[in-house]
Order: sequence, then structure tokens, then C-alpha cells
Amino acid sequence: MLSSAMLALVGLVTLATATPVAPAVPRALPQALPGTGPIYPRQSNATAPCAQASAAYYQNNAGVVFVPNIDAKLAYDCLKSVPLNVSSAKTLLKALPPFLEWQSTIKGLKNPPPEYAAKVQPPIDILGGIEQIAADIDAGKYTGEYDFGFDLYNLITSSHDGHFNYIPDSVGIIFAFGRPVPLVSVSEDGQKLPSVFAFNDVLGLQFKNISYTPSPVTQIDGMDIEEFVENWAQYGSLQDRDALYNNVFYSLAQVSIGSLGSGTGSFTGGGRGRFIYPGPTTTLTFANGTNYTMSNYARVLTPLKNVETGEDLAKKFFYGSSDSALVQDKVVGTSSQSPTTATVGYPKPIVPGPGNLINGFYLSGSGYNDVAVLQVPNFVASGAYEVGFQNTTKQFLAKAVADGKKKLIIDVQANGGGTILQGYDMFKQLFPSLDPYGAYRIRATDEIDLIGQAFSEYGSKVPRALSNNGTVQTVQMSVFDYETDMQVDEKPFTSWDDKFGGPIWVVVDWFTKTARWNLSDVYIENQGGIDITGYGPLANASSNAPPFAPENIVLLTDGYCASTCTIFSELITKQGGVKTIALGGRRNENPIQAIGGVKGVNNYAFSFINLFARLALQYAPTRNLAAYNASKLPDLAYPPNVVFNRATGSPGVNFRDGLPMNDSGVALQFIYEEADCRLYWTPEMVTDASATWKAAADAQWGNSGKCIGGKAYDRRRASQATTSLKSSGLRAKTMSSSEADKHIAAFHDTFSLETDCSNDFKSDGFMNP
Ligand SMILES: *[C@@H]1O[C@H](CO)[C@@H](O)[C@H](O)[C@H]1NC(C)=O
Ligand SMILES: *[C@@H]1O[C@H](CO)[C@@H](O)[C@H](O)[C@H]1NC(C)=O
Ligand SMILES: *[C@@H]1O[C@H](CO)[C@@H](O)[C@H](O)[C@H]1NC(C)=O
Ligand SMILES: *[C@@H]1O[C@H](CO)[C@@H](O)[C@H](O)[C@H]1NC(C)=O
Ligand SMILES: *[C@@H]1O[C@H](CO)[C@@H](O)[C@H](O)[C@H]1NC(C)=O
Ligand SMILES: *[C@@H]1O[C@H](CO)[C@@H](O)[C@H](O)[C@H]1NC(C)=O
Ligand SMILES: *[C@@H]1O[C@H](CO)[C@@H](O)[C@H](O)[C@H]1NC(C)=O
Ligand SMILES: *[C@@H]1O[C@H](CO)[C@@H](O)[C@H](O)[C@H]1NC(C)=O
Ligand SMILES: *[C@@H]1O[C@H](CO)[C@@H](O)[C@H](O)[C@H]1NC(C)=O
Ligand SMILES: *[C@@H]1O[C@H](CO)[C@@H](O)[C@H](O)[C@H]1NC(C)=O
Ligand SMILES: *[C@@H]1O[C@H](CO)[C@@H](O)[C@H](O)[C@H]1NC(C)=O
Repeated sequence: MLSSAMLALVGLVTLATATPVAPAVPRALPQALPGTGPIYPRQSNATAPCAQASAAYYQNNAGVVFVPNIDAKLAYDCLKSVPLNVSSAKTLLKALPPFLEWQSTIKGLKNPPPEYAAKVQPPIDILGGIEQIAADIDAGKYTGEYDFGFDLYNLITSSHDGHFNYIPDSVGIIFAFGRPVPLVSVSEDGQKLPSVFAFNDVLGLQFKNISYTPSPVTQIDGMDIEEFVENWAQYGSLQDRDALYNNVFYSLAQVSIGSLGSGTGSFTGGGRGRFIYPGPTTTLTFANGTNYTMSNYARVLTPLKNVETGEDLAKKFFYGSSDSALVQDKVVGTSSQSPTTATVGYPKPIVPGPGNLINGFYLSGSGYNDVAVLQVPNFVASGAYEVGFQNTTKQFLAKAVADGKKKLIIDVQANGGGTILQGYDMFKQLFPSLDPYGAYRIRATDEIDLIGQAFSEYGSKVPRALSNNGTVQTVQMSVFDYETDMQVDEKPFTSWDDKFGGPIWVVVDWFTKTARWNLSDVYIENQGGIDITGYGPLANASSNAPPFAPENIVLLTDGYCASTCTIFSELITKQGGVKTIALGGRRNENPIQAIGGVKGVNNYAFSFINLFARLALQYAPTRNLAAYNASKLPDLAYPPNVVFNRATGSPGVNFRDGLPMNDSGVALQFIYEEADCRLYWTPEMVTDASATWKAAADAQWGNSGKCIGGKAYDRRRASQATTSLKSSGLRAKTMSSSEADKHIAAFHDTFSLETDCSNDFKSDGFMNP
């Protein structure tokens, strides 16, 4: 939660305490936007930025946390005052490459296919970048720890692969940055080009009879709005630029998954936006000539007790040290919210799933009574949620069919993935008779070969059985035991050498043979916590009737579909024949992609790689020990501590490339695929999920379907831009003003939502937001 001071600042309704300081702010402005002004009174006379940050955090109540947010600039100055620890930095850079080489696209990123380089992201040489940073340290380019940390962070993030991350301590553990004013990009009627608006204006227009005319944002900090948003969007982890653009803004679907999502958008510090310093203030320039300046903030993630200098900060919290005496303090001030945050903008589900991670709805109203909606903003289904997640789909599909629903919208907005096998299961529930393809390959390196030899030899000495002990299961369940998985033609691999494949040179790199999950394998329920519909104990479900015809299903995305979401999407579109609708995108009339997040099909944490390397050295065939010792396995098994303890959260790579059926050697990650339909967001759609679903139903099945650039698209309207939302005739909904205040307050509550995955609520096919 935010402090009461901060809540007042973001109040459209409660505007009494805010004192605007920007000279040009007209009187009308505080009705629409939070005021500016100091976020805290400074209490300390110490001048070092970290001492000031500490004093600001504790206010006059030393030791008791109650101001989670301090001035962004103060936090930034504090970080910038930490001197570079050269030996630690050099040790880290030397130890990282053996782990980074597990990234399946490490060569492809350097030499991507031309279409990817032209339309998606430029080439990036990760290993060369690491060498460059090391050379820059030697050349004395870095004086501070933060500049080094940020360059390293930015290098890995430039891969635009949500599975690939290394977030150094200086970037991720002390502060998370943010701006207090969420934005949206909307078209007034769904046909005119969209413009960027303050979300508060959209709320005011729909819930209050506001007196002023909301005006679009034309510049931010003096830069053209589109240029600013597209540049800021690039800090995100998605690859697709329209998906990245959407991720800058407030999103109901992201908010619906609480701190597991990117919240109110990267502009406000959601998702990867939290790692980027936004400057001390941000100025919005509106088309009506008004300027509005907001104070940016930093959320304090680690208590700054007794921190006076940058050196103090580093000694306490960087290089792997962490002052455990301070952990207690952390609880009070942070705003971590569980995924069960009450949802704003959604109707009450007909079949609610666990933790708000999956929900079933019906649409109502003339023309929509036969439409069901399965909202799947995540595939994270760990622990108690595993069976519940699968069960929700099962219960909902059965109920929808029984209730006479003929059409199904599968809404995967905000879906960063989760448990891989939940994606396969959902596909099988929808298409019981189809055999999911879902092929993958991994890099064929010496280390992977050696682990495979050790594991395959050890694993094959014991039958595959759930009664085996944990170590045997870890070995036998991994891809390094050749008996795990099958060939693309469903035949078994005959040996590790067969699976390793030669290896095979494909386009830019050496890879193993293409493989597929064996969903009948005895270990499947240990891999995903569930039996897969149609396999093993649930084998007879393959003869179930499909609940919906493919032409009566549509996949709805906002481009933020990654990891397990892309596995599921690939299966239902390519094999199931389901069409896609993509929402939002940049300010143009071009087609956009539906799937904009990582299409790699498995992330591996560094800790997982480390475990496999240790086990491989332990189970290495004695005849071949010298080769194991001479490889990089010892570097992976016994790396210097800094690799782990200088990272925020869990660093990791994308380990398996996903491949389409009849692949040409190019991984799905690098393949550009347009959605079947594009829709702009309207003001109603960004505040009411039902409005989005109705627009999708209209586009897919109705007569009024107007996909951008499609047959019914009104080209006359399209050449016009949205200049004012009021001109479309939008009026506040009919409701009492106290009811309207309640609605607005519910939205404002979500403004304090922050991305926080520190509780590690994720899985083998999950992209870090
Ligand atoms: C400023 O700090 C010094 C040394 O820590 C202290 O002696 C002095 O009383 C402080 N002054 C004020 C006004 O708090
Ligand atoms: C530099 O980092 C190392 C850990 O890599 C640590 O042991 C050492 O104390 C640090 N040096 C300073 C001056 O903090
Ligand atoms: C200009 O537009 C902004 C943003 O919609 C609004 O807050 C402000 O009241 C408008 N100013 C005038 C003078 O209409
Ligand atoms: C608003 O900000 C822009 C960009 O910084 C500046 O060019 C313009 O003069 C400002 N307008 C007013 C009314 O202050
Ligand atoms: C599955 O869902 C049904 C209906 O909601 C419920 O009765 C049942 O207990 C659930 N089973 C599990 C294992 O969650
Ligand atoms: C696990 O089982 C294997 C094979 O049966 C055996 O060699 C090993 O000692 C067992 N490990 C433990 C910890 O029980
Ligand atoms: C898949 O696993 C099942 C169960 O262990 C096994 O019977 C089958 O042979 C495996 N299929 C392949 C192609 O390896
Ligand atoms: C499938 O198997 C389950 C569990 O054994 C059983 O309850 C169910 O009736 C079977 N369904 C069909 C269609 O045979
Ligand atoms: C491999 O390395 C281990 C640990 O350093 C050592 O004990 C062993 O003798 C080495 N084996 C060979 C064959 O080099
Ligand atoms: C892949 O190739 C097979 C055999 O030529 C063909 O039957 C199938 O339709 C192809 N699938 C796709 C998605 O191209
Ligand atoms: C806005 O005005 C309309 C028409 O006067 C009225 O029906 C509606 O209830 C008002 N809405 C609010 C939230 O005041």
C-alpha cells in the first residue's frame, strides 16, 4: 500500500492536499491529474545522497518504515554515489559466459533472420557485449557500480527474450522507480487512429460528468509522444514492438494478476519499467497547450537503515552481503500484492479459478448470449493451484456447453506463461483428438553433451518409475536422459548420441535433434503437477467431443503472450486452426503480431544449470573423467559466489528453442507472424473487460466486425486521429455520484500496484515481468 500522503497525490477525487508547483498549470488541472510537490519532508542534515535517501525513507521516525516512496532523483543519486568494485565486477563478467552460452538463441541474436532484424529487433552480440563491458572497466569508463550494473542489465535485456535475464544488485535490489500518472492509448471509436491520454481523463469521462475536455498527450519531456513511447517501450522484455508499446500503458489484464504482472504499465514503473530511472520529474504536454509536471518516485525495496554513503550501501547490500537484521523492517513499507488482488474492470466470473489466474465468464446482451470467455492471464499453476487450474478449464468448458454457449473467446492478455504442461493440457481439453506437436531443440555444446552422457548412462540403469528416489528422478526427468521425450515422428530416441544428434548445424549454430514431450511418460505428473488430458491416467479423454468448433473459438491477445502462452497459442492456431485478434499496438494502421513475448519453450534458472553440472560431475563415467574436468562443467558447478549473490531474484536463460511444424531451422522466436485481426482499444475497453470481449466477438462473428485494415474497416475514419474523447459523444455512465466515486476509487487503488516477483511464484515456462 502507498502511504496516505501518496494516496492523496493520486486522487482524482481527493485533491485537497496536493499543491501544484509547475507554474503553467491551469486551475482546471488538479481535477484530472495528481498534483506535484515534494513526496516527503527532508529531515536530515547529512548531505550525502544515500544519507538523505535513508532519512527520507524513515522520516522522523527512525527505524519504523512508513514512507515506501522517495524522490526518484534522490534514489538515483544515492545509487550513483556507490563506487565501482572493480575486482567484483571483473570476477562476475568472467564467470557469466559459461551460463550465458546456455541461451538457445545466443548465436541467433547476433545473426537473426532479416525479417526479424527489420521488423522486430536489431542484432545483439551478448558475449561480445560482456567483453566490451570488461574492456570498458579496464579503460576506466566506469566510476560507479550503478553504471556498470545498468550496462550489464541493459545488455541482457536487449536480447528481448523474457526468459533471459541478469539483474545486478545495483539495478534491482534497492529501489524500483515509477511515475504516478498511468497513461492509455485509445481510439475514440475504435476506427480513428489512437492517441495517448492520461488514464484519469478516461476514468473521469466515463464515471464523472467532468467539465473539461480531455486532451491527448502530444509530448513527454518535450519529445514527440510517439517517439517517447516507442523509445520507452524498448526497455521492456518482449520482442514485438507493438506488444512493447502496449506494455507502456495501464492494462486491466495486467492489474488482474496483481504483483505478478506489469501493473499499471512500464511508464509508471510496472514490469521492466521499474529498473529505469525516469528522471526527477516528467512533463506531459497536452494538445490543448497545457503542461503538467509530475514528480517521479523510487520505491525503497531494501531498508536503508544506517546508510550514510554509497560505500555503506554497497557494503550492506551489494557483492552478496545482505544485512539480515534489516529484513524485518521490509514488511511494513513494501506494496507487494498477491495475485488475488480484487479485480477492477471485470464482471463476476461464472466459474472462478484459483488465485485469479484463470476465470470463466459469460457475455450478456443481445447478440452475445452464446459467447463464453475463458480469461487466462497466466499459466502459473504451482503447488495447490496445479489441479485447480486444470479443473477450472474443465468445469467451465463443460458448463458453457451445457448452458448452450456456442462461441468461446480465450483471452490471454498479460499472459507471461507458467507451467508448460498446463498449456498442453488446455489445448487437449479444447481439441481432445489432436496430437500436440510442440517441438524443441537445445544448443549442442560440449557441456550439454557431457551432461547427457552422464545422465543417460546413470538413468538407464534404473527403470523409470515414480517410486525412484529424488536424485534418480531429477536425472531421469531431465532432457539429458535420452529416454525423456521422443522424436518428432513419435519414435523413441535410441541413445544419448542419437538425441544429441551429431550434432546438427542449423542456420547459425549447432543444435541437438528436434524433440517433443512424451506426454505419456510416467514422470509427466511430476513435471507439471497434473496428468495431461488425453494421456496416462486421462488417456480416454482423447475420445471426448471437442467442446467448440475451431471457427467458434478466437484467441484474444495484447501481444503480451510469452513462454507457455506461446506454446499454447502455437498449438491452438497451427493445429487447432483458431484465429487470433490482437489489441492495441503502435499508432498506425498496419497489421500487428498476436504473440509478442518470448517463444522459447523453457527457461532454465542459473541454479538449475548449476545443479545439472554438479550432478554430471558426480555421475560422470569414470573412464571419461578427464573430459569432464577439462570442460566448462566445473565453472558451472562451482562458480564464484558473485554469479548468484550479485543477481536480483533468479537469473536465467531460455534453454529450449520452440520450433513450428515442418520447420525450416528458424526458431519460432525469430518468426514474424501477423494476427488475423487487429483492434484498437477504446475508452470503454480500457476500463471494462466486457467491452473488449464484445468488440472481439463483433470482429470475429458479428456483422459489425471492423478489424483495422479489414473488409469492414472505415478508411475515411482511419485517416483521422483521435483528438478528443468527448467529440465521440462519450458520456458518463448513468449512476449516482457516490457509485461513480466508488468505481474511480477502485481504479485508484490499483495505481499503487507494483511488479514484484520476489515470492518466486513462477514456473518452468514463465517470463519475468
Ligand atoms: C547535523 O549533523 C551533525 C553531525 O552529525 C550534528 O552534530 C548536528 O547537530 C546536526 N545538525 C542539525 C541541525 O540537525
Ligand atoms: C568487492 O567485492 C568483493 C566481493 O566480490 C568483496 O569481498 C569486497 O569486500 C568488495 N570490496 C569493497 C571495497 O567493498
Ligand atoms: C487540457 O487537457 C488536460 C488533459 O486532458 C486537462 O487536464 C486540462 O484541464 C485541459 N486544459 C484546458 C485549459 O482545457
Ligand atoms: C510546455 O512544454 C513544452 C516542452 O517542454 C514547451 O515547449 C512549452 O513552451 C511549454 N508550454 C507552456 C505553456 O509552458
Ligand atoms: C473441480 O471443480 C469442481 C467444481 O467447481 C469442484 O467441485 C471440485 O472440487 C474441483 N476439484 C478439484 C480437484 O479442484
Ligand atoms: C537412489 O537410487 C539409486 C538407484 O537405485 C541408488 O543408487 C542411490 O543410492 C539412491 N540414493 C539415495 C539417496 O537413496
Ligand atoms: C512414452 O512413455 C511411455 C510411458 O513410459 C512409453 O511406454 C512410451 O514408449 C514412450 N514413448 C516414446 C516414443 O518413447
Ligand atoms: C475415462 O476414465 C475415467 C477414469 O478412469 C473414468 O472415470 C471415465 O468414465 C472414463 N471416461 C470415458 C469416456 O470412458
Ligand atoms: C577431476 O577433478 C577432480 C576434482 O578436481 C579430481 O579429484 C580428479 O582427480 C580429476 N580427474 C581427472 C581424471 O582428471
Ligand atoms: C507438415 O508436413 C506434413 C507432411 O508433409 C503435412 O501433412 C502437414 O500439413 C504440414 N503441417 C504444417 C503445419 O505445415
Ligand atoms: C452524468 O450526467 C448524466 C446526464 O445528466 C446523468 O444521467 C448521469 O447520472 C451523470 N453521471 C454521474 C456519474 O454523475
